[in-house]
Amino acid sequence: MCGIIGISSSKPVVNNIISSLKKLEYRGYDSAGIATFSDKFIDEVKCEGRVGKLEKIVSKKSLKGIVGIGHVRWATHGVPNEINAHPHSSDRVSVVHNGIIENSTILKKILEKKGYQFKSQTDTEVITILLTENLKNNKLLVAVQKTLEKLHGSYALAILCKDNPDLIVGARRGSPLAVGYGHNENYLGSDSYALKSMTNKISYLDDGDICILKKDSAEFYNSKGKKINKKILTMSETEDNYDKGDFKTFMQKEIFEQPNSVKSCINEYVDHLRDDINIYNFPWDITKIDSVVLIGCGTAYHACMVAKYWIEELTSLEVAIDIASEFRYKRNKFKNNCIYIFVSQSGETADTFAALELCKKNKMKTLSVVNVVESSIARNSNFVLPIHCGAEICVASTKAFLGQMLVLYVLILKISSLRGDIKKKDYEAKIKLLKKLPEAIRNTLSTESEMEEISDIFSEAKGSMFLGRGYSYPIAMEGALKLKELCYVHAEGYPAGEMKHGPLALIESGMPVVIIAPRDKYYEKTLSNMQEVIARGAKVLFISNKSKDEISSDNVWKKIEVEKTSDELLPFLLTIPLQLLAFYAAKNKGYDIDKPRNLAKSVTVE
Ligand code: F6R
Repeated sequence: MCGIIGISSSKPVVNNIISSLKKLEYRGYDSAGIATFSDKFIDEVKCEGRVGKLEKIVSKKSLKGIVGIGHVRWATHGVPNEINAHPHSSDRVSVVHNGIIENSTILKKILEKKGYQFKSQTDTEVITILLTENLKNNKLLVAVQKTLEKLHGSYALAILCKDNPDLIVGARRGSPLAVGYGHNENYLGSDSYALKSMTNKISYLDDGDICILKKDSAEFYNSKGKKINKKILTMSETEDNYDKGDFKTFMQKEIFEQPNSVKSCINEYVDHLRDDINIYNFPWDITKIDSVVLIGCGTAYHACMVAKYWIEELTSLEVAIDIASEFRYKRNKFKNNCIYIFVSQSGETADTFAALELCKKNKMKTLSVVNVVESSIARNSNFVLPIHCGAEICVASTKAFLGQMLVLYVLILKISSLRGDIKKKDYEAKIKLLKKLPEAIRNTLSTESEMEEISDIFSEAKGSMFLGRGYSYPIAMEGALKLKELCYVHAEGYPAGEMKHGPLALIESGMPVVIIAPRDKYYEKTLSNMQEVIARGAKVLFISNKSKDEISSDNVWKKIEVEKTSDELLPFLLTIPLQLLAFYAAKNKGYDIDKPRNLAKSVTVE
C-alpha cells in the first residue's frame, strides 16, 4: 500500500519519477505527489487522484531537479485530497511514507506544544516535523536516527533534506524498501517492480536499516547505527511482463494467461520424462512432520482453504488454516513437528509477514508460497516455493490464485508420496492428469461469451450468493470475493449445506445465486440445496463439469460446464467462469477493473 520512488541522478529526474509512479499505482491510487530539489528549494507538486493527473500538472511546471522523490497514496489517516497527499514538507525536509505511525497522535500533541503547526490529517506529517525539530541540533544521520527511535508502527521512508541536496535518505521498518543501482544514478523504491525499467541490480533494506543514497553511492546503516554492506541481487524478470498486450485490462490479460502460467509452473515442478514431482533441497525430513498450518489473506487464504481439503484427502498429516491477521495476535500452540506455510502473491502482505515473523521468533519451520521471489516473505522463510506466474498487476488476484493452488497441490502430492500415504500408481496417475491441466483451463476459458451474457444480472443485483460444498466451498468464497471487489455488489460465499441455518432468509425473488456443483461426491447434496434456493425464488447460475449425464434440473436459470478432470483438480477449472463473471459484471458498470475503489495490490499495512 502506497508506492515510493526516489531518484538521485546527474540529470533531471521528473520524467522517470512519473513513469515509476505509474507502475506503482497498483499500490495506491487515491492521490499522488512529487518533490525535487532545484536551486536550494524543494519543488513540490501533489494532487488528489491518479498519476495521470499529476503528470499533467507537472508538465506545466518546470521541475529541473536531479534528486527527487514521488509517492502514490492509499489513504490510512485523512481523506484522499491534495493536502493529505505525500510528500509532506517543512522548510527543511520533504517526506514520503508507506506504513502507519501508531503513536502519531501523541507525537503531534508534543510537537504542537513546541509551537509546530500541522497542515494535514496524516500520520506522516509527524515524521516531517519531528525530523525538522531534530535537525536543529543534529547532523542528518543522527537526526534521522533520533526521529525513527520515536516512531511506533511501520514505515518505509524516502526523505529529501534541504541542507543535503545531493542525497535521499531511505529507512525501513515493517514496510518494504529496495535500493536500485544505475549508471550515474541510484534509486529507492517500495518494490523492485518500480525500478525494473531502470535497473536489474537491487538491494533490500531490512527492518531498522537506513540508507543514504547519492547518484554514485549507497551507504547502509543498521538499527544500531553500524555501517553495513548489502548484497546486490540481480532481478530475474524482464519488462515484457508488464504490458497489456492486446487486452484492454490487466485482469482480462491475466485471466487468459492462465493456461500458460499454469504450464510454466508445472514445468518448474513436474518431471517431463517421468511422472514425478521435483522439489529440490526440501529442508526437512517429511516423515518426521506431523502437521501443517497454512496462513494467508484474502484470495491467498482461499488457496489455503482448498489445500486443506487436499491435505485431508491425500495425506496423513494434521492440517489447520488461519487468516494471517487472526493468527498473528492469537495464542498459538506452536509445534516443532509442524511446517508453517505462508501463501502470498506479493510476498509483502503485512499481516502474513507478521505471522511469519511470529513463527520465526518461535523457531518454527517456515515455508512460503509466493509469486515475488525477492519479497520480504520469501527472503525470511526457511524454504520458498515460487508460483512462477509472472507479474500480476490487476489488484484482483486471478492467475496468482491458480498458481498458489498449483504449488500447494504439487507440494501435497509430493509429501503424500514421500510419506507413503499414496500408492505409486495413484501418484503417477494424478501427475499425468496434472500435465493436462493447462489444456483444460484453455478450453474452460471458452465460457467467456456465456459469462459475459449472464453478467448483467449480477451487475444490477442488490446482492448475490455463491454456494458450494467440499472443494467448491472455497471456490464459492473466491467467486464472491471477486464480485464484491470488482463490481461493488454484495456477494456471499457460503457452504451450500449451511444455508438452512440462517442465510436462506436472504433469498428473495430474482436474487442471483451461483451454485457450484461439479459431479463429485457432494453433487446430489448440492442439488438439494439448489432446489431449496430455487423454491424461494433464486435465479440460479449452475456451474458444473462436463459429463455424459444431463444436469437434472429444469428450474435452473443458466448452466455452465467446465472441462472434465479429476475432482481434485476441479477447483482450477471452476474458478475460471467466476473470474470472468466478476470481470464482465464490473465492465458492464464501467468500473476501473484493474484498480477497484478503496483497494490496493500490495497490502503492506495491517
Ligand atoms: C483479492 C486479492 C486479495 C489478496 C490479499 C493477499 O483479489 O487479491 O484478497 O489475495 O490481499 O495478497 P497477497 O497474496 O499478496 O498476500
